[in-house]
Amino acid sequence: MSKRRILVTSALPYANGELHLGYMLETIQTDIWVRFQKMMGNECHYVCADDAHGTPIMLKADEMGIEPETLIEQVKVRHQADLDDFHIDFSQYHSTHSDENREISELIYNRLNDSGYIKKRIISQAFDPEKEMFLPDRYIKGECPKCSAEDQYGDNCEVCGATYSTTEIKNARSVISGAKPIEKDSEHYFFDLPQFEKELKSWTKAGHLQEQVSNKLAEWFEQGLQQWDISRDKPYFGFKIPGTEDKYFYVWLDAPIGYMASFKKLCDNSDLNFDDFFNKNSDTELYHFIGKDIVYFHALFWPATLMGSDFRTPDAVFAHGFLSVNGQKMSKSRGTFINARTYLENLDPECLRYYYAYKLTAKIDDIDLNLQDFKKRVNSDLVGKVINIASRSASFVVKKYNKQLSAKCIERPLYDEFVEAGSDIAKHYEARNFSKAMRLIMKLADKANQYIDEKKPWQLAKIEGKEKEVHEITSLAINLFKVLIIYLKPVLPEMAKSSEEFLNVDSLNWSDIESPLTNHKINKFKALMTRIEDEQIDQMVESSKI
Ligand code: MSP
Ligand code: ZN
Repeated sequence: MSKRRILVTSALPYANGELHLGYMLETIQTDIWVRFQKMMGNECHYVCADDAHGTPIMLKADEMGIEPETLIEQVKVRHQADLDDFHIDFSQYHSTHSDENREISELIYNRLNDSGYIKKRIISQAFDPEKEMFLPDRYIKGECPKCSAEDQYGDNCEVCGATYSTTEIKNARSVISGAKPIEKDSEHYFFDLPQFEKELKSWTKAGHLQEQVSNKLAEWFEQGLQQWDISRDKPYFGFKIPGTEDKYFYVWLDAPIGYMASFKKLCDNSDLNFDDFFNKNSDTELYHFIGKDIVYFHALFWPATLMGSDFRTPDAVFAHGFLSVNGQKMSKSRGTFINARTYLENLDPECLRYYYAYKLTAKIDDIDLNLQDFKKRVNSDLVGKVINIASRSASFVVKKYNKQLSAKCIERPLYDEFVEAGSDIAKHYEARNFSKAMRLIMKLADKANQYIDEKKPWQLAKIEGKEKEVHEITSLAINLFKVLIIYLKPVLPEMAKSSEEFLNVDSLNWSDIESPLTNHKINKFKALMTRIEDEQIDQMVESSKI
C-alpha cells in the first residue's frame, strides 16, 4: 500500500484560561492516532493553535489591565508547556491572531463575498450604554421571566430551566458595567448557510461523520438552516472585515481557518506544499478531532465555508464525548476541575494517556475519569502486567548471560500469536477504538505472564544443566515485552523510549514486531513507571479546590 499523506487537527483552545483534563482528552486522543499513523509509515502532520479572538479574551485583558496581545502571548506559552509535558507531538502550534490567519481569513471572506454568500442586514441587540459595546447573552443577567429567580443569565434560567431572549429578562443589567442594557440597531454580515443546504445534506450523509453525529444533523436540517451572523461591532478583539471600519470577524469565523493558517506556517518552514492539502482536488487526507459541543461549527459552517471558497472539505470530523470526573461534571468546589498543570505536578502524564486510551471509543459517549479506577487500572495493567514481564526477566539475562539474548527464539507459536494480534490492534487504532486495542494488548500481557509463571525460570535456575532453557525462556519474555511496547508506543511514547534504551534498539516501528531480537545485547533494566499512590491523587484534588 502506498504511503498515505494525512493532516490532522485538534480543536483550538481559547486563549483566556488554563488547559484542563477535558481538553487533554481531545489532544491525547488525537496524538495517539497521529503517532500510530507515523508508526505505520504514513506521512502525518498534526497542527493546532490557540484560539485568540473574541469578547471574553478582550474583557479578560481589560480586567487585567493589559493588552489582549500580551494576554494571548502569555497564555500560549503556558498552553504549549502543558501540551508538551503531556507529550502531545504537534508539527505546528500557532495562534489565530497571526499574519497567516489574517491573510487566509480575508481570502476566504472575499471569495465568499464575491460569490454572493455574504448578506447584510440590520439587527437590534442589547447594548451597554456605559461600556459602549454590544452585549453577548452571557454578559446580561437579571430575573427569570418565568420563575423570577434572581441573578440568571440573559438566555436561560439555571433554576427552572426556561430559555428566553434577552429582551424578556426582568431588571436586566450588564455584567460588565452594571448598567441597564438598551436595544440598539447595527448592520451585521451574515454567511448565507441555506444556499448550501443541498450540498451539506449530501456531505453529511457521505461517510464523513459518525452515525450519532449524522443523526443529530438530520434533526438540525429538519429545523431548517439559518443565516450565520459572522460580524461583530467594535470594540472587539479580532480581524477587521475587509472594506469596513468598525466590523470584525466573529471569532468562530476565523477559528477553523486557524487550522489552515497553522499548517501554512508549517509549510513556510518546511518543504511541504499548502495546496497539496487544501486544493479542491487534492488526494491527501484531512481530519478534525473535536468535542461533541462544537459539531455544528465543524459539520455545517466549516464545510460550507470551504465549499463556498473553493477549498477541499475534510475527509472526516471525529467527535468525542465529554469528560466527567468521578461520575460528575468537573467541579471546582469538589476539586475535580483539574488543570493540566495540577495533574502534571502530581502524576505521570503517561498514566492519564493510558487511562484515556483504555476508555476511548469511536463514539461520542461521555467518558468518566474515576480517580480510584484510574489508580487501579494503571497499577494493574502497566505496572503489574506489562512492566512486570521485563522486570522479572531482565535480571537473569543481565546477570547470568552477560546481557545477551539467546541465539534462538523459542516457542514460536506464542511469539507468532503476539505478532498476529497486531493486525487487529492496528485496525482498532485506525478506527479510534483505542479501548479495544488496549484490551487486546493486556490479554497478550496476561499470556506472557502466564508463560513465565508456568516455566518458573527462578526455579529452573537452581537446577544444574538448565542454563540454556532459562536463557531462552527469559529471552523470549523480553521479546514478548518488546512486541507489547511497540503496540503501546502511540499511547506511551516515553515508556517506549526508555524501553528502546533497555532493549538497545533504534526507534521501534510497527514493522519491528516481525523479527525477535536474538544474539542481541540489552542494557540494564531501570524502573519504567512507579505505582500510583492515593496521596498523589488526594494532593491533586486538594490543589484543585477553590
Ligand atoms: N475555541 C473553540 C474551538 C475552536 S476550533 C476551530 C473551543 N474552545 S474550548 O477551549 O472551549 O474547547 C476546545 C476543545 O476542548 C473542544 O473540542 C471541546 O469540545 C473540548 N473540551 C472542552 N471541555 C471538555 C471536556 N470536559 N471533555 C472533553 N472535551 C472537552 O470550543
Ligand atoms: Zn427560572
